[in-house]
Amino acid sequence: MRIAVAGMLMLGVVARAAMAQSPMDEGERLYTTICQGCHMSKGEGATGAGTYPKLAGNPLVASRQYVAMTVLMGRKGMPSFGTLPGLSAQQARMLASLTDEQIAAVVNYVRTHFGNDYKDPTTAKEVAELPHPGGKGSGRAG
Ligand code: HEC
Repeated sequence: MRIAVAGMLMLGVVARAAMAQSPMDEGERLYTTICQGCHMSKGEGATGAGTYPKLAGNPLVASRQYVAMTVLMGRKGMPSFGTLPGLSAQQARMLASLTDEQIAAVVNYVRTHFGNDYKDPTTAKEVAELPHPGGKGSGRAG
């Protein structure tokens, strides 16, 4: 019994590690928990209390820098999700902001789903080179 329980715990750890290693799964998780509330489950956007542009078939999504900048800095009615420089991953989580790795994952998810099919993924390194909230050259993108 004790061995079975230990085995199950091990499986859980392995499953979590496997998830953390797959950036696409991370992108999907982030999209579902953060972006979907405004941009809808199929990226179709919404109009009601505000206007939430569609991400499906949106020509602006062709630019990975545009999408990454939007998530990092916010854009008019959209909040910023970038992390202030110097914050630890744990502090970023507490502020509900995203690390450069997470931003790359969600940007790549959006650009390869909802009918979008862009073959030039961004990377955490590329995201790191874009302006961040509170950082040098900061100022809202929109
Ligand atoms: C609180 C609502 C909200 C959330 C959450 C949100 N957005 Fe947005 N988003 C908006 C609004 C509103 C705009 C339009 C801003 C403007 O007026 O230009 C926008 C614009 C965008 C644009 C630019 C589209 C265009 O046509 O210019 C992209 C790309 C985008 N969001 C991606 C994301 C991603 C990826 C996430 C998740 C990390 C996300 N958004 C989360 C509200 C939201």
